Formats: sequence, C-alpha cells, structure tokens
Amino acid sequence: MKLKGKAAVVTGGGRGIGRAIALELARQGAAVVINDPGLGRSGELTTERPADEVAAEIVQAGGRAVANHESVADHQKAGQMVQQCIDSFGSIDILINSAGVVRERMIWNMTEDEFDTVIGVHLKGMWNMSHHAIRHMRKQGFGRIVSLSSDAFKGTFGQCNYAAAKAGIIGLTRSIAKETAKFGITANALCPVADTRMTATPEVAANRKRKLESGLITQAQYDAAMQAKGPEYVAPLAAYLCLDDADFINGQTFHVEKGVINTYYFGEDRNSMFKVGDGLFTLEDLEECLPRALLNGIPPIVPVVKRDQAQKAGA
Ligand SMILES: NC(=O)c1ccc[n+]([C@@H]2O[C@H](COP(=O)([O-])OP(=O)(O)OC[C@H]3O[C@@H](n4cnc5c(N)ncnc54)[C@H](O)[C@@H]3O)[C@@H](O)[C@H]2O)c1
Repeated sequence: MKLKGKAAVVTGGGRGIGRAIALELARQGAAVVINDPGLGRSGELTTERPADEVAAEIVQAGGRAVANHESVADHQKAGQMVQQCIDSFGSIDILINSAGVVRERMIWNMTEDEFDTVIGVHLKGMWNMSHHAIRHMRKQGFGRIVSLSSDAFKGTFGQCNYAAAKAGIIGLTRSIAKETAKFGITANALCPVADTRMTATPEVAANRKRKLESGLITQAQYDAAMQAKGPEYVAPLAAYLCLDDADFINGQTFHVEKGVINTYYFGEDRNSMFKVGDGLFTLEDLEECLPRALLNGIPPIVPVVKRDQAQKAGA
C-alpha cells in the first residue's frame, strides 16, 4: 500500500476514469472523497448517484471513502468538498480533477451556455478545487494534483469549448507547479484515451468509420482506435504521480492509454527571427521572411484552403 495515510478528493469519481483512479488510490491505502453529482454526459440532471456506489465499493473492500454530490463548477461547494475531506480524514493530500461534461457543436452553432458550461466544469472547476485544496496543502508542505486534460488541447472538430478548457488545464497545471513547488506540491496533467460513456458512443464509432471510408485514417489506425481500452489503464499513472517519491515530476503532461504513455514538451522556441537596429519588423519584412524563415519546417495545423474553395464551402 503506497498511499497509506493519504487523503484524496476525486472529482467526477463516480464514473469512468475518475472512478478507476479512486479505486486505485483506495487500493493503495488512501482515504477518498468521491465527488460526483451523477450528471448526464452533457451535464443534465439525473437521479443517479454513482458517487455512493463507488464509495460503498471501496468501503466494502475494506477501504475508507465518503461520497459528495456537489458540482466542481460552484466555487463555494468546491471549498466545502475540500473541507469534507479534512473533516472526514484529517487532511487533503491528493486532488484528482476528473469531472467532465461535453457539449459538442461547431463554433458558429454553439450557444454561450454550451461554451460556459464546459469551461465551467473543466477549467473553472479545476481552478476552484485547486484553489481551495492548495490553501491546505501549502500549510502541510505536501500536495499532489492530477488533472485530466485531453489530446483535444491540440484543437478538435465540434468541441472548441472542450479544447479550450483542456488547453487551459495544461496552462493552469504548469502555473500551479511553478507557484507551489516550494510548498512540496506537484501538479501534473493527463491526456487519456479510455472507453467511458463520454467516448464509447455510437456517434464516435460512426465518425471513426467515416474517417476510414474517406481515407483520413488507415485500417491499422481504425483497428487501434476500435480496440477496447478501459479507464483502468489510466489509473496507475495517476496514482504514481501521487507518490511521495514522484516529487520530481511537476508541471508535466502525459498522454496515457492501454499500452502506451508519452510525454509532451511545450513551449520550446523553434525558429526565431531577429531585427537589428530599431527592432521593428515591418509588414514588408514579415511578408518576405515569415513564411520562409519563421514557419520553415513547422507543419501546418490545417491545409491551406484557396479562396474559391472557401467560398463554395461556406455557401
Ligand atoms: N475517456 C476518454 O477517452 C477521455 C479522453 C480525454 C479526456 N478525458 C477526460 O477525463 C475526465 C473523465 O472523463 P470520463 O471519460 O471518465 O467521463 P465520464 O462521463 O465517464 O465521467 C465524468 C464524470 O464527471 C461527473 N461530472 C460532470 N460534471 C460534474 C461537475 N460539475 N462536478 C463534479 N462531477 C461532474 C459526471 O457525473 C461523470 O460521472 C474528463 O475530464 C474528460 O474530459 C477523457
């Protein structure tokens, strides 16, 4: 038991990846607050109480767990969640931010509410929880924060709210790491791939099939994507990042799924241009040098679309 004596809050801990991480932390001896209001995939209210089920499962296996049904998007309730952990188990040592909802739509069709809801749960929710937890963690000189980002941070179709939130989680993680390292706190992010009710939908399967049929992905890529991979393949890495000995890993982002883990490195300088003298790059300088010097060797995010094609697409 490598986390004996530690107390954790796992948001979104009633289902999917949060549940798998909560069970793994408990298996390693941590006492866990399982937070989950039991919302639908898009955040709609339901009568389900998955947090109770996971807490009961842990207790039945001989561990310590309590349930919490509040939303991470509520700043005050987030503070109460942290306090619940301290009241129940004496401290808060570990915070796992796994709560999540999706509201998919192209940006021109997306409503303000759809944008705000996704940012509110993923990004603001992480900030809410981290803000309250860190106030305690810094006093005790120890803390571990693991937040679920996503490869969607790279940009994705029909999920600009989600992509923005997940990219924000990486920036927030790196900022927390810089601000709190001196208090013995680490913050890291995971970009998982796992079959959960968020991802294993008929729409996602149909979309992959469409990509295969239109040649956007190979048969091998399709087969790999369709292979079953549960959230239990994500959980051990989250638990590892919570160990005392993982103090040297701070501000990092990992991709994780069944059979593969990789790191990302962000923010390194690639190509640079320098202007001696007055330091002012004129429009003419940029027209001449930017495409061939600054963008040299940088792969485009999307293919160039010519004006006549673009007019047809939007008509
Ligand atoms: N499954 C994947 O492949 C995948 C990929 C990339 C990122 N992620 C991220 O991992 C995290 C977990 O996703 P999952 O696949 O397990 O999804 P899931 O839908 O199975 O579980 C998410 C849980 O969060 C809870 N939740 C929703 N809103 C909440 C709120 N306001 N407060 C507290 N809890 C709330 C839901 O009730 C649900 O039980 C999410 O942040 C998701 O964006 C998942």
